[in-house]
Amino acid sequence: MNPIAKQLNAVIETSNPHILQMLSDIGSHLFFPKGILSQSAEAKEKAHRINATIGIAKEKGKTMYFPSIMEAICDIPPEESLTYAPSFGIPGLRKTWQAALFEKNPTLSGKSISLPVVSSGITHGVSVFADMFVNPGDTVILPDMMWGNYTMILSVRKGAKISNYSTFSSSGGYNLAAFEEKVKAEAKIRSKIIVLLNFPHNPSGYSPSKAEAVEIVRILKEVAESGVNVVAVTDDSYFGLFYEEETLKESLFAHLCGIHPRILAVKLDGATKENFVWGLRVGFITYGCKSKESAELYDALEKKTAGAVRGSISNASHLSQSVILRSMKDAKNSAEKQEKFEILQRRAKRVKEVLDKPEYKAAWDVYPFNSGYFMCLCLKNVDAEKLRLHLLDKYGVGLISIGEKNLRVAFSCLDEEQIPELFDTILKGINDISS
Ligand SMILES: Cc1ncc(COP(=O)(O)O)c(C=O)c1O
Repeated sequence: MNPIAKQLNAVIETSNPHILQMLSDIGSHLFFPKGILSQSAEAKEKAHRINATIGIAKEKGKTMYFPSIMEAICDIPPEESLTYAPSFGIPGLRKTWQAALFEKNPTLSGKSISLPVVSSGITHGVSVFADMFVNPGDTVILPDMMWGNYTMILSVRKGAKISNYSTFSSSGGYNLAAFEEKVKAEAKIRSKIIVLLNFPHNPSGYSPSKAEAVEIVRILKEVAESGVNVVAVTDDSYFGLFYEEETLKESLFAHLCGIHPRILAVKLDGATKENFVWGLRVGFITYGCKSKESAELYDALEKKTAGAVRGSISNASHLSQSVILRSMKDAKNSAEKQEKFEILQRRAKRVKEVLDKPEYKAAWDVYPFNSGYFMCLCLKNVDAEKLRLHLLDKYGVGLISIGEKNLRVAFSCLDEEQIPELFDTILKGINDISS
């Protein structure tokens, strides 16, 4: 093992030995290399005459660029757009995102969390998380309705087993009984469990109520108290888009942080969906736990995480990070966010009103939804893929089929006026197929 990795592991062990046990084999070997990067950092400070360290190009001491590129970028100078960002992410954005986490999650007040490490979107965040904590053969606990790409990242690439519980109870809320049974069954046969919680949920658009959140936290805390290490990772891609009063408006990460030494909370989130900049590919990985020397522990975890970024994509786009930082610092930002939130909230409300029509009852059930970009129908009489293809071919309507029964609607893409037409067309399609 590299001596720097050994050093980081020793720091983690002294701060909280359970967290060292939670690392995967790759996670325990990860470190942030000193090599070229630290030599360049030293040169940046001290090489006043000539600095010939980094692999970029300069002219008269300034970053080299094509005018045709800078004409498109306009406002952000080459040093903040064309050069490499640190593998950790640019410091200003990391600090600003961390401050926003405290603002958006009042339960974090008085708790300590790491500085977020920047990933290339949340997909990459899940992948880096898997490098850090998931060994081939480990089990990751997830609901049976889930984002399909978890399979690619966790099962196909990482060789983990995904263990599902049924998402919703027959009475309509999150299936806490199934969640508890699954988590406790896994905890009986292993010393570490990995639980992935995704709210607002893809594909259903569900987020737990405040009461359900209390139960999820209780269940995980009981497992930790029984002597099992719990890695609780929240995929908060659609964070903030909570449309109803009784829904939990914070991340479960905030509620899981610092509550037991055997619980490590990992937050994966990003600007991609929250700030409507999907293609800019900026996500964040943040840690929260209970430990003695939390500053040292977080520093070690951040270095290992940045090592995983360095070894996969090297660093996320500097231009994207600068754009997002500027937008977050802009006085218009909170009003812009509120405006877009209200548009999506109105759509969700309209979808609910439209779905109340009695003629739809025989055709589908609606999974509970109260947040995010999506809602999902459970079809009663026709195959979801057959219906999807029919809607596409005959009516020019595109939806996503998931399994035999589920049809996902991204109401985030619909204008309010299109909502009644969409569901009437789905019903027409069902009737065409049935007759
Ligand atoms: C639950 C969930 N996590 C992660 C992602 C990916 O997000 P990103 O575009 O930031 O990689 C998506 C969406 O595509 C998603 O639905």
